Amino acid sequence: MNTVENSQSVSVKSMSVKSASVSKDLNPESYLGPKMAAEALTSYVERSGWSKGKIRVLDVGAGTGFVAIQLANRGFKRMDALDPSEGMLEKAKTRGVYENFIQEFLTPDPTPGIANDTYDAVVSSGGMGEGHIPCGALREMVRVVKPGGLVVIAMREEYLRCTSGYENLEPTMAAMENEELWERLERSVLPGYCYHKDGLVYVFRKK
Ligand SMILES: C[S@@+](CC[C@H](N)C(=O)[O-])C[C@H]1O[C@@H](n2cnc3c(N)ncnc32)[C@H](O)[C@@H]1O
Repeated sequence: MNTVENSQSVSVKSMSVKSASVSKDLNPESYLGPKMAAEALTSYVERSGWSKGKIRVLDVGAGTGFVAIQLANRGFKRMDALDPSEGMLEKAKTRGVYENFIQEFLTPDPTPGIANDTYDAVVSSGGMGEGHIPCGALREMVRVVKPGGLVVIAMREEYLRCTSGYENLEPTMAAMENEELWERLERSVLPGYCYHKDGLVYVFRKK
């Protein structure tokens, strides 16, 4: 297991304190994001004819590892976790499902330690939220995925309207499609994503 450290220690410390309660709140019965994200990724990986046991997946905003548990249950074996919170990653390590741990924020800038075109897929469940992954970081998801690779994002639908900056989320996605960085394969509204709130699942393929 490898860990890449980051330098944003103030934010990381405060997230570390919160990590235990966040993990408790996100129980699998009332928060279906990880399952929905894993189902979407599995579906497109199978349609692409890829071997789930061989492809490399980056879980962005991995938290305590719920997405990778769902992926491992579906036959995925090569997942890396990226999260700025040391506390979250410590818990994620106990799951025994990730290969590497990258303690970083995803931002519009290149993430230290991740080369261009590294992963077959990027998945993020719950990583989009107030103060979380910024719109500009969508381009970083594309940078780290191989051409033809997949990006799957699961989030609360209401965040498009009530999270500052996310009024630009879908316009940014569309602009990236116009720039031929990626192609949108799916945008689904899914009931019961989190505590009876609707979810959104996006699937993109890098050009
Ligand atoms: C709601 S949790 C989701 C955890 C997990 N993916 C799940 O679905 O259970 C959101 C996670 O995003 C992480 N996060 C916040 N800002 C981030 C950023 N800019 N880049 C990557 N992760 C971030 C937080 O530390 C937190 O662990």
